[in-house]
Formats: sequence, C-alpha cells, structure tokens
Amino acid sequence: MFSVERITDSTRPFVDKQISESWGSPYIVTRGLRHDTRIQPGFVAIANGEIIAHALYRIAEEACEITVLESLRPNQGAGSALVKAIIEVARANHCKRAWLITTNDNTHAIRFYQRFGFALKAVHINSIAELRKLKPLIPETGYDDIPIAHEFEFEIGLEEPK
Ligand SMILES: CC(C)(COP(=O)(O)OP(=O)(O)OC[C@H]1O[C@@H](n2cnc3c(N)ncnc32)[C@H](O)[C@@H]1OP(=O)(O)O)[C@@H](O)C(=O)NCCC(=O)NCCS
Repeated sequence: MFSVERITDSTRPFVDKQISESWGSPYIVTRGLRHDTRIQPGFVAIANGEIIAHALYRIAEEACEITVLESLRPNQGAGSALVKAIIEVARANHCKRAWLITTNDNTHAIRFYQRFGFALKAVHINSIAELRKLKPLIPETGYDDIPIAHEFEFEIGLEEPK
C-alpha cells in the first residue's frame, strides 16, 4: 500500500533528481512552452518511506495540465492515484478541464490515459520539431524505437453536468 502526499520541501529534492534523470533536464516542453518543473506543485506516492511515483501540474486559464507523471513501481495503482489527486485539485480550483501531452511513441501512456477516462483532444502533427528548439535534448526516437514527432493531447472534462 502507499499514501498520496503533496510534494513538500523534504520530497522535492528526490522528485527534482528523478525528473532530471528521466527527462534529461528540469524543463519540460509542451505546446510550444517551456516549464521549469522545480517550481510546479504536485504529489508523490509513498510506500514504506520510499517515493514510488510523482506527478506535477500547472493551472492556467481554468485548465489543469498534468505536466509530469512517472511511476517508479508500475502497475500498483500509484499512477492512477496521482492523476486522481491532481483532478481533485483541479476541481477545487474550478478548472473546466484537465489535460496533458504525451508523445506519439508513448503507446503505454496513451493506453493508460484512455483507460483512465481521458479522451484524445488533438494530435499536433510534427510539433516536436518546434519543441526541439526549446529543448534540444528531446531524442529522435523513443519507446520501441518509434520516431518522436507528434504531441498527443488528451483531456478530461471537469464541469458539473447542468
Ligand atoms: C504511465 C505510468 C505513469 C502509469 O503508472 P502506473 O503507476 O503503472 O499506473 P497504475 O498502476 O495506476 O496503472 C497501470 C496499470 O496497472 C493496473 N493496476 C493498478 N493497480 C493495480 C494493482 N494493485 N495490481 C495490479 N495491477 C494494477 C491498472 O489497472 C493499469 O492497467 P492497464 O495498463 O491494463 O490499464 C507509468 O507507466 C510510467 O511511469 N511510464 C513512464 C513515464 C510516462 O510515460 N509518463 C507519462 C508521460 S505523459
């Protein structure tokens, strides 16, 4: 079992280190913007005193973007629990939607988010070329040696039915 907790000063250094290791830098780029993950709020899942997953978000224009989600112990429910925690925050902040970007190679994440309840909103064809100008570290190929070229945008509506 694990608990879900807000990222605090004591868990932030681990999350920062993990993000830099996994994504090559503290910066993530989505939809033409570069964000510094070190100042973004988020949650960690903790099991037996160890961080087993982390997630970050940013809220702007009545929408909540999940900017980072990474599970260090997959298939135990931690990823889903962190997405749920962010959606609760988004609702509390009157966001109309939660959204995220994943790249076209990340078929596991594409499956995960759809099974969670996110819907495909847009495919931004060849948008990664522009993002590479902001973050040259983005590799040419990703999961399963698939060329990384497009952003897949997923969203989940948060407005109460009228
Ligand atoms: C995508 C990712 C975050 C999912 O995290 P996770 O912790 O494995 O997520 P969950 O455990 O909640 O769900 C994963 C699967 O485990 C299943 N699961 C959840 N709890 C479980 C349990 N107690 N026992 C067995 N399976 C379980 C879920 O049903 C889900 O199954 P599915 O793949 O058939 O849909 C993770 O694979 C990851 O870190 N990927 C690399 C980074 C990445 O791609 N991030 C997203 C970029 S946008």
